[in-house]
Amino acid sequence: MIGRAMIKKISHTAIVLSLLILALPACALGPAQEAELATLPADGKKTYSDLVVGFSQVGAESEWRTGNTQSIKEAAEALGIELIFADAQQKPGNQIKAIRTFIAQQVDVIGVSPLVETGWESVFQEAKDAGIPIILVDRRASVPEDLYTAHLGSDFIEEGRRAARVMVNLLDGKGSLVELAGTPDSAPANDRYKGFREILKDYPEIKIIASENGDFTRAMGKEVMQELLEQYGDQIDALYSHNDDMAIGAIRAIEEYGLKPGDDIKIVSIDAIRDAFQAMIDGKLNATVECNPLLGPQFFDLALKVVNGEQVPKWIPSLESVYFPENAKEVLPSRRY
Ligand code: AHR
Repeated sequence: MIGRAMIKKISHTAIVLSLLILALPACALGPAQEAELATLPADGKKTYSDLVVGFSQVGAESEWRTGNTQSIKEAAEALGIELIFADAQQKPGNQIKAIRTFIAQQVDVIGVSPLVETGWESVFQEAKDAGIPIILVDRRASVPEDLYTAHLGSDFIEEGRRAARVMVNLLDGKGSLVELAGTPDSAPANDRYKGFREILKDYPEIKIIASENGDFTRAMGKEVMQELLEQYGDQIDALYSHNDDMAIGAIRAIEEYGLKPGDDIKIVSIDAIRDAFQAMIDGKLNATVECNPLLGPQFFDLALKVVNGEQVPKWIPSLESVYFPENAKEVLPSRRY
């Protein structure tokens, strides 16, 4: 069966053939060829509506991810791009299968947010061999730089550093904290772990007494926090959570345990989702470090530049800030995820 991606390719071949026919007298062109020539941009470059893009998404583990998926789908629709979207449901094997399918479909560009950092070399090499550029969106992959064209996403190490600076202030340089970490081997979990410790190494009186995987989900955040409370009880002065969803799960566990989140246990997390603003308004969260998921428009802008042979930076970091309870009420209505 011929897919739409293939049909677009065939139609481009037809345009090239039509250009060759231009050398013939005008009366030799049929109406279809004339119509196609009329739609060809004067500079011969592709436009958004020519693009067929495959996108392999991690899953739907958090509110952040939902916002990211929505941004990609809405931007594709608005720009008239044919998007082939595949949700990997948190399984790297599904992402590898999706990328192989995109290669077989001969898409113009492949976008991928790699669930984990490792294990991508072979499939990225297959895309490279097929002449299909790979753009990493949100998460990095640990591969040689020639296997992908560009990375669009946050500076996760800096997010970890920002969270640590806020934590140092909240604890006045002294206390015991627990950490809820994101999916093991994922770029944000690795980097947020690292960036946080980079700052804390100068504050020896702040002790990280436990660091456990909460897989970036609310359910795991709650479950793991319950276990940590059973183990350490009111020894815990603070919680550092690699995302807001896990922090929100943990807030419930802290309340059920009979302590006041945001007060008995200071909490700093990452993402800046709408629910985090509500938690700050309610006095249960002390700060959220922004991680921007609204990457759709920038991703397709990059994709178009890449197919038209333009030079693009290897890494395009997102611009982000930190939010506190003081202005949460004022900011919440403008948050889009
Ligand atoms: O890769 C970005 C991270 O993935 C977000 O911080 C987290 O919420 C998501 O699941």
